[in-house]
Amino acid sequence: DDHADVFEDVRRGMIPAHIYNDQEIFELEKERLFSRAWMFVAHESEIPQPGDYVVRRVLDDSFIVARDEQGSVHAHFNMCLHRGMQVCRAEMGNASHFRCPYHGWSYRNDGRIVGLPFHQDAYGGEAGFRRKGQRLLPAPRLDSYNGLVFVSMDPEAPALRDYLGDFTFYLDYYTRQSPSGIELRGPQRWRVKANWKIGAENFAGDMYHTPQTHTSVVEIGLFREPKAEKRKDGCTYWAGRGGGTTYKLPPGSLEERLRYVGYPDEMIERMKRSWSAEQLRVVGQDGFMISAASAFPNLSLVHNWPRVADSEAVLPFISLRQWQPVGRDETEVLSWFAVDAEAPEEFKKLSYKAYLMCFGSTGMFEQDDVENWVSLTNTAAGSMARRLRLNSRMGILADDTEVVPALTPEQFAGPGTARTGYGEYNQRAMLNEWADHLAAPARSATATHVGGPV
Ligand code: FES
Ligand code: FE
Repeated sequence: DDHADVFEDVRRGMIPAHIYNDQEIFELEKERLFSRAWMFVAHESEIPQPGDYVVRRVLDDSFIVARDEQGSVHAHFNMCLHRGMQVCRAEMGNASHFRCPYHGWSYRNDGRIVGLPFHQDAYGGEAGFRRKGQRLLPAPRLDSYNGLVFVSMDPEAPALRDYLGDFTFYLDYYTRQSPSGIELRGPQRWRVKANWKIGAENFAGDMYHTPQTHTSVVEIGLFREPKAEKRKDGCTYWAGRGGGTTYKLPPGSLEERLRYVGYPDEMIERMKRSWSAEQLRVVGQDGFMISAASAFPNLSLVHNWPRVADSEAVLPFISLRQWQPVGRDETEVLSWFAVDAEAPEEFKKLSYKAYLMCFGSTGMFEQDDVENWVSLTNTAAGSMARRLRLNSRMGILADDTEVVPALTPEQFAGPGTARTGYGEYNQRAMLNEWADHLAAPARSATATHVGGPV
């Protein structure tokens, strides 16, 4: 069964419900999607100093993402060349070397092997095991954009920038508000009993759930005005391998609009110097402020501006997250607070609180959202779900014409396709990517690396 019927339904916005909890589909995702897409794993600011490292996973594979003494970033497969023990058992730290706990082989933080206990007695020295040239297996590909580090399991993957395409235009709003870029706090990590696709789709384009799922957030006054009103005036955009949602801002200049969401003037000055004319135009002239977004498949971003305590003031925050599939019905979420490295200390402090309140592990949005996703995943496992195609066609009529025309370049200066109003354009774009990957046979992965001579 090649699931051709599933992909065809998906492309028409009629989603076979079982894809959100199906072992065969999950196996296919492993074989054809996670084996070649660029997967977000870390941000360079998490490992600023030589020797800094974090350990991150791509499905079942553990990688040590480390900065070596020369300042280069590596992703080493966290498995000893000898008998396969996990070389690094900590989650983050600083080390010039990693020593395997099993028999004590040791590796420099650039991956090269340096120490074998009893090299002479056990192997007959270099004659039996030549250490030179031996190193921990690197991730097939590693690349970064604005400090966001991605790995791909496919040695022939396109360059990261080509893969992301025009989505980089939007990534800059979150990750380059000044020449110094962002710094992160976290990640907070938790597991949800939900399929990974649901959250990624939600962040990409689900403006429609906000008034219902997050009613209480509005009712208790966390937002300045009913968000429901503004959602339909905002637009969703899709460009390259990602897309997101925006809010329409009240009339005003660029400065007034950035102040409206809570940025202090000195940050606004840096944004003006860091963003292109088009990027500034989207906010200043067109009046759209970016909100949530997803890059296919597993990176999502949030930008929001809740009210601070009882005051009228709002405070913007940025958050990044990685959707890390654990199984067909379970996802590990890694959630980071991100802030412009040059932001004033007071801003960083308050912005962090705003993040925690909304999207930290106990954040109010987080709690509201996850209940839906867990419940959906549960129900998708049964036999009835196999008979149901979910309606993901908002924004297209029965004859496949689109309800709302795309915004013109005069209305929206960003690349890609953007539309105002409710619509499931981005969820469809996301799942079309998914179908494209799953429908294409994978190149077979072969053993390429042997620890020592054979
Ligand atoms: Fe690592 Fe033996 S498994 S030294
Ligand atoms: Fe939500």
